[in-house]
Amino acid sequence: MEPANNCLLLLLSFSLLFFFIPAANCSLDSFLYGGCSPLKYTPDSQYESNLNSLLTSLVNSATYSPYNKYAIMGPTPHDVVYGLYQCRADLAMPDCATCVARAVTHLGPLCSQTCGGAVQLEGCFVKYDNASFIGVEDKTVVMKKCGPSDGYTADQMGRRDAVLAGLNGAGGAYRVGGSEDVQGVAQCVGDLSNGQCQDCLTEAIRRLKAECGGAVFGDMFLSKCYARYSTSGAHAYTRSNDHGSSHSDSEKTFAIIIGLLAGVALLIIFLTFVRRIFGGNGK
Ligand SMILES: *[C@@H]1O[C@H](CO)[C@@H](O)[C@H](O)[C@H]1NC(C)=O
Repeated sequence: MEPANNCLLLLLSFSLLFFFIPAANCSLDSFLYGGCSPLKYTPDSQYESNLNSLLTSLVNSATYSPYNKYAIMGPTPHDVVYGLYQCRADLAMPDCATCVARAVTHLGPLCSQTCGGAVQLEGCFVKYDNASFIGVEDKTVVMKKCGPSDGYTADQMGRRDAVLAGLNGAGGAYRVGGSEDVQGVAQCVGDLSNGQCQDCLTEAIRRLKAECGGAVFGDMFLSKCYARYSTSGAHAYTRSNDHGSSHSDSEKTFAIIIGLLAGVALLIIFLTFVRRIFGGNGK
């Protein structure tokens, strides 16, 4: 085989690879909010290189853990960068890794050269900063969204309130609940203690109920926890879809990627062999 053909085949395999990656689980990758600190770092500085190591560590870690935190130190105290990610606890690992990688790609253009930044996608949360925020409770409202309030019956409102009360009492860092057509979900970032998590969720749920009134869906994201509810039939909200079908879709995608990677590896090994044999014959 000619070297030009080898290149062509490799290129083809790689373009197939990149064709499949963006197809993975659109709904989990939906952008919910992002924010950046106003402080900027110097380009090409030690801080920038520490930040890049941090983001790489987060993406790698998301292949095997739904939550992790890192601090990249040195060489001087003001080069330290702290960061963490939290995947929605019901995600399978390939979905978590895809989501965190996607969140990190949002951070680049969104928070260009800022000392701190955070992104929340449907399936995961990523945050970094040069001031330590790990283990610190923070109940600042970062994103609030209430659906339209028309057509919500007193019955549905009663079920919504019951679902929210259930979430508040459920315990744990990830909580789901439902009553007929109303579904609820709440989650803390993994760096909070049980007590901090409960305190944060109590506040998120209280605000959700107070501020979203009779809305057919509501999202209340505080810095370190969130609570959300939705009502089936509320067309603006289709979160409940991503539990079933897209889940297996992304597993399929993952299998295809692994298959392609293995294919490319085998191809390279095979071509190296062929080269050796024909090269050995002496041209
Ligand atoms: C973060 O970086 C900014 C800009 O370099 C600096 O002014 C600030 O003091 C730093 N904060 C910490 C906690 O190091």
